[in-house]
Amino acid sequence: MRWIAASFLLLASCASMRPALADDSLYRALGGKQNIIRFSAEFVDIAVKDDRIKSTFANSSLGRIKHMLAAQICAISGGPVVYKGHSMRLAHAKLGLRNADFNAAVEDLQAAMDHADVPVHTQNKLLALLAPMQRDIVTK
Ligand code: HEM
Repeated sequence: MRWIAASFLLLASCASMRPALADDSLYRALGGKQNIIRFSAEFVDIAVKDDRIKSTFANSSLGRIKHMLAAQICAISGGPVVYKGHSMRLAHAKLGLRNADFNAAVEDLQAAMDHADVPVHTQNKLLALLAPMQRDIVTK
């Protein structure tokens, strides 16, 4: 499976690159790279079964989304990885997403983090970092 290979690449790059932020406390509280890869992948698995938003993913590489999302969460939480994917505006430009879609995805991410034993107060710290991206992701 391609996304598993990609996840190993992410692990390798996490190990070899310098931290994006001096403070990696959120990255560590999220469980580090292994747990971030785990809940990013599960988020996508949940979202593609979520009747509210599953049609959005029909023409996309789920492996790429899993890999890029994990890299992005690693990076913004202060982990030792640089996000090299598309900007949030470009990645979501053709999807025509609404606020309701964004909120559904957040619920799915919360469920995935619950399953990965991320404490709610830690989840909320990550969600606070993702929240400003809504203005680039929601276009309708
Ligand atoms: C804060 C919230 C979100 C974050 C951090 C996020 C992150 C990402 C990332 C990192 C990518 C990959 C970019 C690349 O290919 O280089 C991506 C792609 C994608 N995202 Fe999101 N996303 C968010 C919200 C959403 C929502 C709300 C939906 C739909 C309900 C969604 C659906 C998709 C789809 C379908 C793609 C693939 C697009 C393509 O095939 O070109 N995302 N997202």
